[in-house]
Amino acid sequence: MTDLTVTIDGPAGSGKSTTARLVAERLGYRYIDSGALYRAIAWKAMEKGIEFGNSAGLGELAGRTRLRLEFVNGRQQVWVDDEDVTEKIREPEVSGGASSIARDRRVRDALTEIQREMAVGGGVVLEGRDSGTVVLPSAGVKVFLTASVRARAKRRQRELDLAGTEMSVEDVERDLERRDAQDSGREHAPLRVPGGALEIDTTDLSIEQQVQAVVDAVRSVTGFPSRSGKARRLAPGVRQMRFLYRLIWRVLNFVGVALVGFRVVARDHVPWPGGCIVACNHVSFWDPPIVGMAVRRESHYLAKKQLFRNRFFGWFISSLNAVPIDRERIDRQGLKMAQDLLRSGCLLLVFPEGTRQKTGCLGKALPGVGLIAVGAGVPVVPAYISGTLGFWRNFFRRGRLCVRFGEAVSPGSVCMDQGRVAAARWLSDHVMERIGQLKSAALGES
Ligand code: C5P
Repeated sequence: MTDLTVTIDGPAGSGKSTTARLVAERLGYRYIDSGALYRAIAWKAMEKGIEFGNSAGLGELAGRTRLRLEFVNGRQQVWVDDEDVTEKIREPEVSGGASSIARDRRVRDALTEIQREMAVGGGVVLEGRDSGTVVLPSAGVKVFLTASVRARAKRRQRELDLAGTEMSVEDVERDLERRDAQDSGREHAPLRVPGGALEIDTTDLSIEQQVQAVVDAVRSVTGFPSRSGKARRLAPGVRQMRFLYRLIWRVLNFVGVALVGFRVVARDHVPWPGGCIVACNHVSFWDPPIVGMAVRRESHYLAKKQLFRNRFFGWFISSLNAVPIDRERIDRQGLKMAQDLLRSGCLLLVFPEGTRQKTGCLGKALPGVGLIAVGAGVPVVPAYISGTLGFWRNFFRRGRLCVRFGEAVSPGSVCMDQGRVAAARWLSDHVMERIGQLKSAALGES
């Protein structure tokens, strides 16, 4: 397959970043987030006390600052002169600063050069506002995403909400309109639809649909066959799995089901296709692979970020879809990543108790599962795993290892009157109660 250059432009809130990141992931391309570069220069200017009106100073700063975008365990890191500024550049003052310095021609020229260097060799998805018009006008595929201001405002509000910032849709809408006017009205490299671009109105599309539209556009140029036409003999969920995942899934299934008599009860409660969370009790590190084996779909997992410290192990679990999460604090980036996956139609396996309950008793749910589900608007399927406490003892007793699924809790059943946080708390507790009922059913059977 030829490695193309893909540009994705559009106004704030059109879903550019999420789409670009997921398209890059699916095609095995590198993702270049140009907004992060503008933010990085704005941050550095603030650090150095350079006024946003000082064009010469800003241009000189942009020309000599070393900027790096790296991907570590599926997360973007932004480096400015060897300092990790990933979190700092997302502060509101830096967002405002980025919009201001983005009007400066010298800054734009310097950052255009940097983006072109990053894109050398192709196999990249460049996301921004002038990627297809100025930075890479001869890109293989150019995409322009739009959406109504209301739809964009609602999406942005949901993100802000998740980050703990309360703002009305009307205020978010006004802010977006102001940024639109600033980006489209500026003299240098204004936001425009690039010539020959594929325009996608995302107002009524799910992330999965917009990602697929871009991936299809790229494949129509590269000639890579779409997944949907392949292998007919496998169950649809299995057919969709990536090669390494499917291989391990098959080996585990063979060992588990054929040799050990591992049992799955009511697997049909796990929907296919579409984004959903499977929330399971947690007693042993055997739980993730066993629940992953029990669902007939490729799963993504939340895993504590300490597990990624060892490079080899980090690589291994990343290639099996582990998503790093910081359990010590509210990890906005991790939560957003989890929601993006769900919105793009993936299954996320979550252990709501947060950590292993080595006594075998059920613990209390952390609010995370509810926050993710409410934010992404997806159903939660409760699951109860038994037999993994004392794994080796049960390994040789047929039927002792068992995963039992319950009916999905739909996002529509959650009362939002008390606000999102209360709804998320309620949902987490409710799911834990449902896991408790599955446990009672399992005990009643044995
Ligand atoms: O995309 P993001 O919100 O991170 O970008 C921050 C700001 O940088 C935007 O509001 C926009 O004004 C500016 N920007 C730009 N051209 C780009 C990327 C970002 O003007 N290619």
